[in-house]
Amino acid sequence: MKTVQIKLASETYNITVGHDLLKDCGNWVKKCLTANTKKIVIVSNQKVFGLYGEIVLNGLETVGFQCLVCLIGDGEKYKNFRTLEKILKFCGQQKISRTDAILALGGGVVGDLAGFAASIYLRGIAFLQIPTTLLAVVDSSVGGKTGINTEFGKNLVGAFHQPSGVLVDIQTLKTLPKRELTAGFCEVIKHGVIGGKDLFETTSDFLKQYPPAKFNKFFDLADFIRQSENLIAEQVAFKAKIVAGDEKEEISRDDSQSRKILNFGHTVGHALEKITDYRRFKHGEAVGYGMLVAAEISKNLDIFPKHELKSLNEVVHLAGKLPNAADLSHEAILNALSHDKKNIGNSLKWVLPETIGKPRIVDAKEISEQIIRKSLQTAFGEKLNGKRNNRINKQIS
Ligand SMILES: NC(=O)c1ccc[n+]([C@@H]2O[C@H](COP(=O)([O-])OP(=O)(O)OC[C@H]3O[C@@H](n4cnc5c(N)ncnc54)[C@H](O)[C@@H]3O)[C@@H](O)[C@H]2O)c1
Ligand SMILES: [Zn+2]
Repeated sequence: MKTVQIKLASETYNITVGHDLLKDCGNWVKKCLTANTKKIVIVSNQKVFGLYGEIVLNGLETVGFQCLVCLIGDGEKYKNFRTLEKILKFCGQQKISRTDAILALGGGVVGDLAGFAASIYLRGIAFLQIPTTLLAVVDSSVGGKTGINTEFGKNLVGAFHQPSGVLVDIQTLKTLPKRELTAGFCEVIKHGVIGGKDLFETTSDFLKQYPPAKFNKFFDLADFIRQSENLIAEQVAFKAKIVAGDEKEEISRDDSQSRKILNFGHTVGHALEKITDYRRFKHGEAVGYGMLVAAEISKNLDIFPKHELKSLNEVVHLAGKLPNAADLSHEAILNALSHDKKNIGNSLKWVLPETIGKPRIVDAKEISEQIIRKSLQTAFGEKLNGKRNNRINKQIS
């Protein structure tokens, strides 16, 4: 078992990483909270609760907590005001008090919603996370960002609300579908590319030894468990370090340690999600392509060495197969990028790799449209014929 401490100006808490930890989650919660806590609202969805709900409930009830289960719909489309209201109403009906807590059991959707509810219910109550997707483990459960989607866009309403503790049980990843693993590993790779050569190498070696396509076969191997724990603890420690140095993502910062570097791969990633109406790609898969494009741009600007681009490409492919992107209209991607630019006050920034492990934040003004087009072409492979592209253009507009 490993513990990563997150030290922020306002508070300090631990992320505990290990295996077979769920059965003892009651004692973990006791360590995270004050002695006054009596009730715990478990927010989850049917699928995850069906897999891990009973063991968590038993763990909590054995040490005396009163548990109340609030199940929400499964998927990004439920990350909205309506579900938030449902959770808040549930807390009110169950007479949850300021000394009680909300526990998220699930992926990033459950975590973002439960965390946001905890941040505003009675002006803020304690929040705990048991993330159960790889993406939630290494990314969304670290850093205190919570929120929901609105009709104007994703994650546009939310709050910073740090959890009192995060419990990662590697064993929960055994039931993850392959695409969720690939998506999670893309964010894992992202941390490697911006975090340091060592983190990149550890990630790459892990993926070579334990391909995501056969992931669930490895869980009986002691070495796999040990290496997974190490990799996840290193990943979490990296994100924790960045978050600690820039807790609220200061707008004016654009240095190589600012929280903005975590957006590596997300500029094109968000554009891909948007033009396909959030249906074709899992978020992490879109980030996978986004990293390939950003790295191509960097190479085309003579910032990023060719052999490092090759290593990055290889590792992204080790994460698993990404959905086809060669048929997507470059025009639509460029439009989505310029729309983003307007939304954030004409100051779109790209996070580009300078070397593996060293990101640079570059103003969009410094990158010509021609370079972006060329990089899209290479990263997505050959485009299909014009006819198909026209059809897709129409669907988008
Ligand atoms: N707060 C942040 O800092 C932050 C960072 C990155 C992403 N996010 C958010 O996270 C969300 C994406 O999270 P996600 O990728 O975890 O998606 P998700 O929460 O939708 O989970 C993906 C799917 O996996 C299922 N699942 C979860 N755990 C499982 C398990 N152990 N076994 C089998 N199935 C399981 C879920 O029910 C769901 O169907 C997005 O809304 C994104 O905006 C937030
Ligand atoms: Zn992301």
